Amino acid sequence: MLEDTSFAIHPGNNPNLSETPYQDIGNIKHVEKDEERYTFYCENGYVTVTFNRADIIRIVMNPTDVPSLKSTPAVITQPETVHKELREDNEAYVISTSHLDAYIQKAPFRVRIQDKEGHTIASEQEKGLGFQENGEVICYKDMQEQDRFYGFGEKTGFLDKRGESYTMWNSDVFAPHNPETDPLYQSIPYFMSLRDGRAHGIFFDNSYKSTFDMKTETDHYSFRAEGGQLDYYVFIGPSPKDVIEQYTHITGRMPLPPKWSIGYHQSRYSYQSEQEVREVANTFIEKDIPIDVLYLDIHYMNEYRVFTFDKDQFPTPEKMIQDLKNAGIRVVPIVDPGVKKDPEYSIYQEGVREDHFCKYLEGDMYTGDVWPGESAFPDFTDERTRKWWGEKHQYYTDLGIEGIWNDMNEPAVFNETKTMDTNVMHKNDGDPQTHRALHNLYGLMMGEATYEGMKEQLGGKRSFLLTRAGYAGVQRYASVWTGDNRSFWEHLQMALPMCMNLGISGVAFSGPDVGGFAHDTNGELLTRWTQVGAFTPYFRNHSALDTARQEPWQFGEKYEAIIRDYIQLRYQWLPQLYSLFREAHETGVPVMRPLMLEYPHDEKTYQLYDEFMIGDNTLIAPIMHPEVTDRAVYFPEGTWVDYFTGEEYSGKQTHLIHAELDKLPIFIKKGSFVALSPVRQSTMNKQDSLILHVYANDEGEYKTMFYDDDGETYQYEGEESLKLPITISSTSAEVNIAFGEKQGRFNPSYQHVDVYVHSLQDNQAITLNGEKVTGERSGQSVHFQAKL
Ligand code: GLC
Repeated sequence: MLEDTSFAIHPGNNPNLSETPYQDIGNIKHVEKDEERYTFYCENGYVTVTFNRADIIRIVMNPTDVPSLKSTPAVITQPETVHKELREDNEAYVISTSHLDAYIQKAPFRVRIQDKEGHTIASEQEKGLGFQENGEVICYKDMQEQDRFYGFGEKTGFLDKRGESYTMWNSDVFAPHNPETDPLYQSIPYFMSLRDGRAHGIFFDNSYKSTFDMKTETDHYSFRAEGGQLDYYVFIGPSPKDVIEQYTHITGRMPLPPKWSIGYHQSRYSYQSEQEVREVANTFIEKDIPIDVLYLDIHYMNEYRVFTFDKDQFPTPEKMIQDLKNAGIRVVPIVDPGVKKDPEYSIYQEGVREDHFCKYLEGDMYTGDVWPGESAFPDFTDERTRKWWGEKHQYYTDLGIEGIWNDMNEPAVFNETKTMDTNVMHKNDGDPQTHRALHNLYGLMMGEATYEGMKEQLGGKRSFLLTRAGYAGVQRYASVWTGDNRSFWEHLQMALPMCMNLGISGVAFSGPDVGGFAHDTNGELLTRWTQVGAFTPYFRNHSALDTARQEPWQFGEKYEAIIRDYIQLRYQWLPQLYSLFREAHETGVPVMRPLMLEYPHDEKTYQLYDEFMIGDNTLIAPIMHPEVTDRAVYFPEGTWVDYFTGEEYSGKQTHLIHAELDKLPIFIKKGSFVALSPVRQSTMNKQDSLILHVYANDEGEYKTMFYDDDGETYQYEGEESLKLPITISSTSAEVNIAFGEKQGRFNPSYQHVDVYVHSLQDNQAITLNGEKVTGERSGQSVHFQAKL
């Protein structure tokens, strides 16, 4: 391929870098106002300003028409009634809500949004809103020297995206992901910006190919799209967590996942027969390595026909699935969108007869090559087709399946453009549009079809969906794995900022293929990667055809023992993680967090990509280089306790930490606690007790909500849950553990709590709800039992 050689930088290839200038929207001529919106009639088009909440402003520009307020399917909430006022002087209109003031300059149209204390949140001066003849729309915003950028969904590179430019166009990228590989599978046209410790967010709700440029100019950044309206929301923060709450208020939050889906998952492209699947399952059990899920990749199907099994290799799928479930393991099959073009295949027949497949305007069906060869693609933009596809999943649920893996749903097609012809015309629920306009929505809509279908079929049980492609809002339906990475140390390193930025982008349930998908892994890399995986929200080991097998035991006893320890550690941490999933479900704030999210005023955290937090009090600083056993760890304010050794580190500084291969550096903030459980082979096994590890401090108070429920139904939406506020108050004389009033009717399998208080000073007493407890003391720790 010529573009892979020096030919790529042939002087004659240089593209014309001088861009045609954008046409500015121009001066305001007049404003029209109704209940919800203000529409500014400008010299060169129209701009509507409206509010979804007092802290969420929406701006829509259309060069040719009064803007439509129709959103992409990413947006699910109706705007609230917002009290607002409009003032006007010679230069500007000012629209005010209880949370913000929007200054709208008249000549030319420019917007400056301020909070009530007068901090500028987002502003435009020299350049503002514009467009081009060819339909492109653009927005420029001022950028200050200290501005940082996060989010943008699934992107390579470091944590802070300043100095980068990103394109949104869902793409299947098997080639090695490197720092300039862009775009990948997901398009989340949203970011959060941090300025002097205050955050705001922008969501550009446009499903055309779009670009965010924080690189080309020093005092502006821009976002633009190939077509459609310039439709964006500004979330005014002021804390990074507020921004995530605001963004996920608009695009939705993840449903509480079934507990089994936050256990350990094992996959391979492919486990090729029932016998092989059973052998893998048995080996996990024999070796005491906890596991909840095994995957069936494309070889389970009859020549890659979705909704079929290969009867030779999988003669009794129902029995296999049931036997595995009895052993605590769920089976999740892959389901791709491509339906094999085969007149004797019932899904294809139905799809054609009932008009479910994507077509050109002229009426011809679109087909493209994927695993099964020539295939048709369901038009998920249409409600009728989503329903059809969802109902088809009864095939799987009848076999006892409760989770589905959606892959190749960018959609990926084996051709030059890597996807569907952009001229295909989607039905789009009565508003037909081309694939060019809707490409980035295909994975999201497939996710909706699958999630809703599974929910319906499972009649009250939670399902699990894993997806490769998506758009803003994907968190409502699916967890996301980061696609075809490789068994490179660099890809382990890259996974951290990628998942942290996905979390900032509303996707709290994500993770990379542990061990690496392509290329051969090795014992050391798999071990270090499993340590990280034990704390990424989604935890799956997956690898490709013709690569070294990478189940936990493949590299000998030395590695196996450590890998087992960390998978077991994951199971110990499940109650803590589940409480954090509950928080993400209710507020959008992710499970896995960059330190910046907790310490937005600490500049040292702004680019920290190789450490992360689990919740607000646990710091994970993995080793991600071969044969390295020491690393620098930055600790934010407070004192931090090594989870394994009890050693203490003072914050606001960097310490050198030693970690042999068997050690993942984990630190808990003094004054707080974590809620764990005994190890189990599967989440299907009963949890006998709850274990609180409290880390005594000599001052301060830590408050959080412990959460639990049955982990498998939707009854938590009623009263069947347990919410227990827990407060740890420390003074030099005493540590008090206070269990607040329980809410909800859920009765967990454990009836008592084993409390361990660590890092105690010699004279520090322990009280439980104010009553003195003695307990058994060993060194600086005390253990006692409390009733729940
Ligand atoms: C794609 C997926 C990968 C899967 C393979 C075969 O490459 O990203 O995870 O194993 O297809 O289905």
